[in-house]
Amino acid sequence: MAQELIRMEHISKSFPGVKALSDVSFQLNAGEVHALVGENGAGKSTLMKVLTGVYAKDEGRIFLHGKEVDIRGVRDSQRLGIVMIHQELNLMNHLTVAQNIFIGREERRALFFLNDAALNRRARELFERLRVDIDPTVPVGSLTVAKQQMVEIAKALSYNSEVLIMDEPTAALTDNEIEDLFRVIRMLRAEGKGIIHISHRLEELKQISDRITVMRDGGYVATVDTAQAQTNQIISMMVGREIFITRSERAAPQNAPVALEVKNLNAGRMVRDVSFKVHKGEILGIAGLVGAGRTETARAIFGADPLESGEIFVHGQRLNIRTPKDAVRAGIAYLSEDRKRYGLMLGLSVQTNTSIAAMKRFLRAGFFLSDAREEQNMRKMIDELSIKTPSTHQLTRFLSGGNQQKVVLAKWLTRNCDVLIFDEPTRGIDVGAKNEIYKLLDRLAAEGKAIIMISSELPEIIRVSNRVVVMCEGRITGEVKGDEIDQTTIMRYATMREAQAIGGE
Ligand SMILES: Nc1ncnc2c1ncn2[C@@H]1O[C@H](COP(=O)(O)OP(=O)(O)OP(=O)(O)O)[C@@H](O)[C@H]1O
Ligand SMILES: [Mg+2]
Repeated sequence: MAQELIRMEHISKSFPGVKALSDVSFQLNAGEVHALVGENGAGKSTLMKVLTGVYAKDEGRIFLHGKEVDIRGVRDSQRLGIVMIHQELNLMNHLTVAQNIFIGREERRALFFLNDAALNRRARELFERLRVDIDPTVPVGSLTVAKQQMVEIAKALSYNSEVLIMDEPTAALTDNEIEDLFRVIRMLRAEGKGIIHISHRLEELKQISDRITVMRDGGYVATVDTAQAQTNQIISMMVGREIFITRSERAAPQNAPVALEVKNLNAGRMVRDVSFKVHKGEILGIAGLVGAGRTETARAIFGADPLESGEIFVHGQRLNIRTPKDAVRAGIAYLSEDRKRYGLMLGLSVQTNTSIAAMKRFLRAGFFLSDAREEQNMRKMIDELSIKTPSTHQLTRFLSGGNQQKVVLAKWLTRNCDVLIFDEPTRGIDVGAKNEIYKLLDRLAAEGKAIIMISSELPEIIRVSNRVVVMCEGRITGEVKGDEIDQTTIMRYATMREAQAIGGE
């Protein structure tokens, strides 16, 4: 018999205007990885925040080892050995790795007598146990996201936690980093810990989870054994209907004029001699492994990073783009992969965030910013992208992670740009909404927009693109179009390093 760690019964939680959880039950055993899935806004993060005392529940009971517990704050959950690694990591960038691990804990007084050297030694022991290579003395801000996550895991272990909750830990990781994370998760599972894993990458659930619990609209749907579950079955439980993701039938435009052309772009180390064209009505995919220079290329075109050399033409006219403002004026939009840093003002309403890039359009009508027009536009966007929010006035910070991402999309779609660069537009977005976004891209292309789609998910690139250029280490290594577009060909170009080409490695 499996030993039970956590049982949550009949949990309900409301926020003003939103019933985030309604009568949800959940159970976790020792030595188990339990995946929690559901659409954006289904209530996954909220349920886990109730378990860790970030939010107080309105109703329901929580048991640990069969005994009811009263969790009133994060301190309580930590003391009980329950730790959550949040969707947006909670580390302090300027402090060292070791300081981050040991900061703000209850036995602070004892630690007060420990100097940095002692903290570093204790941190080093934790990393040895995890078998990861991290220097405890460097500032956390200098680490990759994957390593920052390992720091969070080390921190969790330092509390002797029995329950580790990870909210979309793989969303921003490369395949190798995911493998490493899974190795650590399996190790913790073998030690008898319970791990709750929230993810939108359904294909990884088979690899890592023992059971899967599905939530929908703040409610509990079902819990299934992963070994017995079919991905399609999970999807239909999540969205309440079947979804088929098929290749787009939109044909490549014939003889369409070139909307954007870049010639011999060089910027930093990651953009080397990059040239390509995008036509009106065309979707150009840019594929490549993480670190291939795709985002850097987009940022260089958008004026977010300085260009060392090269030329940019929009509708045949050579432009001097030095800042994002120049780019926006030329009709280029860039939807960044990092919603927190570049995309959104979390303290402002959904509506303001959406309108910000298009202020001029609303002003040009000759009025002061007209609330009615804004509202009308926003309603259309909420509808088209199925953004889950109680009202257009809701502060963006209160939206679920995936819904924040959709607001970034709404913001740029509101502004009428001719060239749209999407950088990982579906990261953290659920399957149903992903499909909606693909359809939206098709529609925009059919309307004559030129679209660049950067994505690490190959099926997605293949689904939407008329043509794909592939990058590796800052250079374009190949181009495929139409029926030639397939995973094997793209992967071959994506790993075509210069060193290999000249017989190295
Ligand atoms: N602090 C808050 N104030 C108001 N509403 C909130 C707050 N936190 C969450 N919500 C709302 O509760 C609902 C559930 O959100 P939650 O973050 O739990 O979703 P999720 O399943 O984690 O989604 P995602 O996959 O997008 O991260 C959403 O409608 C969200 O807008
Ligand atoms: Mg969430």
